[in-house]
Amino acid sequence: MARQWRCAVVGTGVVGEWHVKTIPVVPDAQLVAVCDADPAKTAAALDKNKLSGIPQYTDLHEMLRKEQIDIVHVCTPSGLHFDPCVIAMEAGKSVICEKPLEIQLDRIDQMVEIAQKHGVRIAGIFQNRWNEANRALKAAADEGRFGRIAWAGSFTPWYRPDKYYDEGGWRGTWKLDGGGAIMNQSVHSIDLLQWIVGPVKSVSAYGASRIHAKIEVEDTMTCSLQFESGAFGTIVGTTAMFPGQPARIEVGGENGTGVSENGLKIFKFRDEREGDAELRTRLSPPPTDGVASKIRPVLGDEQYNQLFPKTGKGSGGGTSNTDVALDLHGRNMQAILTAWDAGREAETSGSEARKAVAIILAMYESARKNGAAVEVE
Ligand SMILES: NC(=O)c1ccc[n+]([C@@H]2O[C@H](COP(=O)([O-])OP(=O)(O)OC[C@H]3O[C@@H](n4cnc5c(N)ncnc54)[C@H](O)[C@@H]3O)[C@@H](O)[C@H]2O)c1
Repeated sequence: MARQWRCAVVGTGVVGEWHVKTIPVVPDAQLVAVCDADPAKTAAALDKNKLSGIPQYTDLHEMLRKEQIDIVHVCTPSGLHFDPCVIAMEAGKSVICEKPLEIQLDRIDQMVEIAQKHGVRIAGIFQNRWNEANRALKAAADEGRFGRIAWAGSFTPWYRPDKYYDEGGWRGTWKLDGGGAIMNQSVHSIDLLQWIVGPVKSVSAYGASRIHAKIEVEDTMTCSLQFESGAFGTIVGTTAMFPGQPARIEVGGENGTGVSENGLKIFKFRDEREGDAELRTRLSPPPTDGVASKIRPVLGDEQYNQLFPKTGKGSGGGTSNTDVALDLHGRNMQAILTAWDAGREAETSGSEARKAVAIILAMYESARKNGAAVEVE
């Protein structure tokens, strides 16, 4: 029988509450404690999920001393990931940390070293790697079905109101968010881009805050890049495009094109294979709002939801920070536990989660140099 991992969550705000909700339904995990500097947050996260009898703490050291814990889930603000991760690992616990793993590369390197030194593991959350359309693009790329890739792009045309940045105080700050639309929101698609297509060699970027007057970081950035393979690419990320659209990944080359956008929008290869048509049908994007509003009354809610089950969380974060399908978090967590149980690093290991941050920091450096090309570390 697989090991049951005893998990605790530190930081039970918006995303920590998702972990509180998800851990109990992950087959190999159980929730044993929660911690937040603000006691109202732990109580609210447990109440919301009707969980009772779970010990609550305001101090991580005390929780680690008093509870039997295998894994600490770190869901504090991005610039406050380092301390709880290190405290947990130095206490002999493994860590699952929200994206971005950290906002500085030297700190990520230290986190990976500390895990090795203490014989524990660290992995990041990049739940969109468990989206089936993205996995189809990854499998096609790994099998060489695109041929030589000419160009690939990651687009995160999202929207966040000013209120989003006001909440929590840390969002939209260099110190605690590490950046804006790119470090916080586009990190998902940038991770997918490099995961599917391969390492990025250099970037050239422009960015600024276009509509959010009060934030010090960018709400919009555009970037041209070159992959190590020689392929060209584009990254666009924004929180300034009302009402917000789903993120999109595009890959194309001599033998095929694939586009993932709220499903598998394009999946076309010279070597059409058995199963491709089925995949396109099963993962086809749900109808657009205009079409859905015509079909839904005809079919009725039940049949409509059966036919288009993914419409519930349509934009995947595009329109709001809570419009996220939590089953992907669960799959990401279970995959980490399965790998660790087998003595392997997780697919989203610390070193793997570093890659998106390296690209992002190179983009920021380029934007500061008015678009000059910067090599990715
Ligand atoms: N995977 C995703 O799709 C996704 C989506 C949104 C945010 N995130 C990430 O999740 C993290 C948290 O974001 P959020 O929106 O939940 O923030 P939030 O502000 O809602 O919650 C953060 C919580 O951490 C607590 N906290 C801060 N410092 C602490 C400490 N030292 N000890 C204990 N608790 C502490 C705060 O009191 C707060 O309750 C960020 O890194 C963010 O990038 C991931």
